[in-house]
Amino acid sequence: MLDVQKIREEFPILKRKINGHDLVYLDSGATSQKPESVLRAMDDYYRNNNANIHRGVYDMSVESTRMVDEAREKVAKFIGARTEEIIFTRNASESLNLVMYSWGKKNIKEGDAVLVTRLEHHSNFVPWQVLCKENKAEFRVWNVDREGRLVDEIASVRSTETRNDGKVKLIAMTGASNAIGTLVDIKKMVEMVRSKNPDVVVVLDASQMVPHMKVDVSKLPVDFVAFSGHKMLGPTGVGVLWGKKEVLNKMEPFLYGGDMIGEVGLESTTWGELPNKFEAGTPDIAGIIGLGAAVDYLESLGMDNVREHEKELIGYALEKFKELGDLVTVYGVDNVEEKGGALAFNVKGVHAHDVAQVLNNYGIAVRSGQHCAAPLVTSFGVSAMVRATFYIYNTKEEIDYLVEKLKEVPKVFA
Ligand SMILES: Cc1ncc(COP(=O)(O)O)c(C=O)c1O
Repeated sequence: MLDVQKIREEFPILKRKINGHDLVYLDSGATSQKPESVLRAMDDYYRNNNANIHRGVYDMSVESTRMVDEAREKVAKFIGARTEEIIFTRNASESLNLVMYSWGKKNIKEGDAVLVTRLEHHSNFVPWQVLCKENKAEFRVWNVDREGRLVDEIASVRSTETRNDGKVKLIAMTGASNAIGTLVDIKKMVEMVRSKNPDVVVVLDASQMVPHMKVDVSKLPVDFVAFSGHKMLGPTGVGVLWGKKEVLNKMEPFLYGGDMIGEVGLESTTWGELPNKFEAGTPDIAGIIGLGAAVDYLESLGMDNVREHEKELIGYALEKFKELGDLVTVYGVDNVEEKGGALAFNVKGVHAHDVAQVLNNYGIAVRSGQHCAAPLVTSFGVSAMVRATFYIYNTKEEIDYLVEKLKEVPKVFA
């Protein structure tokens, strides 16, 4: 189990007061807070080591290059990948766009279909919608039931004649919904589509998985995995794309410029080896080093312990929310085994933004709105939801406090 009090000591921001109250940070699904070790690693880089990578033979540049290489090795080990298969991007959105531009544009053609789920964050929905329009392919949406589970028959794919007919060339799916927390049975869903087209390429948005549970890409039936460093204790500005080496090697670069080339001539240019081929220009060196420190931190806790802690919190919150009776509507599955650390709800008769505003008065930070998942949120017949997301530094006492303050909300609007 996690020693949460000790963990909290390591996050300086948790000492902040908001409107005179202790900060209760319940928005790690949007971005997590950062421990001292991550802050120190980045500060140390700028103070003592700042030099561009791959460009110099002098000590500081060699050192910076080594630090970035080490961070890449840490990330690779963390998710069971080969080091050269880890591509650093700006964020999960850029990772997903990279796949769309470099793989999708070339390989998705008229007559093909792309299958996305209704659970997707816009970052894994909109790029494929745009691609399908441009390449005249069919955009199919895999629906959810009333609890936000993917319906496990392909016949429910929206549209009249779309079925599991072998036309699907690419599946874009999340492993965990950022809005309502649903965990997806990835293997089952992929096998269903692969039974008709064994070559279907699978893009997994693991933005809400990698920070919260053990992910081993070598055991997943997927070709690409995208996630952001800032949701897993790392800094903003660094994302990761993992891709199978065989697939990445066949792809064209996404961005052109320095660092990604083999040889440049007046007539033509060749591309560098993986991962450089996909990393044009100076990367966020300090950010990558910070992400490496974040991986160290998570490894020291153990990802199974992280998941256990979150299961305990979400289970506790689901029970505790029952105290609120019909004052609140909770969305999504009511079962911790199928749920990540996100709890979405609405308070009767009060708009989600107003609820979040009232909670902010008490120092509680929650998210409100559509959570960049409009197709999912609107499928519940609402235009917005409040969302509390939990992480390693959250406690049951904070959930008690949230529930207590939710009881105040209707009084404010009475
Ligand atoms: C499931 C999921 N996918 C993608 C993203 C996009 O991440 P970023 O904004 O870091 O690109 C998020 C961010 O909330 C997310 O939760």
